[in-house]
Amino acid sequence: MSVNTSSVKEKSRIRIETCRDDFPVFRREVHGKPLAFLDNAASSQMPYPVMRSYTDYHSRYHSNVHRGVHLLSQEATDAMEASRETLRALINARSKKEIIFTSGTTDAINLVMQSYGRTYIGKGDEIIISTMEHHSNIVPWRMLCDEKKAVLKIIPVSDDGVLDLDAYASLFSERTRFVSIVHVSNTLGTINPVKKMTEIAHRYGVPVLVDGAQAVSHMEVNVQEIGCDFFATSGHKMYGPTGIGILYGREELLLKMPPWRGGGDMILSVSFDEVLFNDLPYKFEAGTPNISGAIGMGKAAEYITAIGYDTIYRKEQELLAYATDRLSGIDGVRIIGTAPEKSSVVSFVLDGIHPHDIGTILDLEGVAVRTGHHCTQPLMERLGLVATTRASMAMYSRKEEIDQLIDALHKAIDIFR
Ligand code: ALA
Repeated sequence: MSVNTSSVKEKSRIRIETCRDDFPVFRREVHGKPLAFLDNAASSQMPYPVMRSYTDYHSRYHSNVHRGVHLLSQEATDAMEASRETLRALINARSKKEIIFTSGTTDAINLVMQSYGRTYIGKGDEIIISTMEHHSNIVPWRMLCDEKKAVLKIIPVSDDGVLDLDAYASLFSERTRFVSIVHVSNTLGTINPVKKMTEIAHRYGVPVLVDGAQAVSHMEVNVQEIGCDFFATSGHKMYGPTGIGILYGREELLLKMPPWRGGGDMILSVSFDEVLFNDLPYKFEAGTPNISGAIGMGKAAEYITAIGYDTIYRKEQELLAYATDRLSGIDGVRIIGTAPEKSSVVSFVLDGIHPHDIGTILDLEGVAVRTGHHCTQPLMERLGLVATTRASMAMYSRKEEIDQLIDALHKAIDIFR
């Protein structure tokens, strides 16, 4: 798979076989057991280069950006803007103006809802989302619909976790104003055909936001090829820091959108009577940003690129197949989400044992998983479940961790059955 810019291309390669050594967390134990970290869909771990960028910033040039003429401020500004360029390249946006730093995916979706949504969506208009959305891609739209008396329409999902594209196409009407869909389901792992879904929406002249929180660490994302109008993602799901993310927006749309937060840095001039807003992307970045987070997220993008998406995807698909196979071999396990196109997420239920009990036993055995509704309550309701246990792998994950999960599950079965 191709990499998008020369600056990224020139980075030296990192070998996936040894990359785990770059993640110090794997040297620790949990309850006296080696750590098997299978909760990467919630938050992935951070490698040394990302941590070093953090320490470097805080120990050498911590200062505010876009404001000072002094050297430290210039260095901080240069590092943050270099990171914006790295992230632009990672998802192949046309221009740095289209990359807005946010506090994460949730913040990015809320920006679009508050700015685009409140401006261009009104009474009786319709917004399409899917059954498998994370709460962060439901609640903002529900809030907007309540405020504007607009209507939320929902793409149905099959029992195996695949969106019904015929039903999706039939949801469009002359009142459809927006589509917001998840790229990769955090609960099921389903990879949605967002390019095709965008094409369908564009036939009706409807803009599309793609929630890419679970995509960017696993597979190459090319926003121009997808054709989407907005794309949101988070640093902490892609080996970067928490509290930082990006919103990609097509320049043409961002220009038409009002800012939704006012303050410093997002203005050209201010008087008590009039404010002139700054150019893109700063119009949407009011106040002092998370500078070290932005720099760290850029470093994380460089790290991913240095390994290569083709390598990452291949390894994670092997892990997915291994985990699916081993879990399926346990009596009473039912895998939730069996779409043909999946990322490295395996959700399951186990007859007679509540996921929270499973999670507690797994933790004692050193295995970190997520249990619960995974912030997808409507999806759980559709599937007739209240909770699942979810194992989610990353590029540094190992088959031995999956074996540790399986052994721990057998212990849970011995205790609870
Ligand atoms: N969205 C994160 C998860 O799926 C928190 O766990």
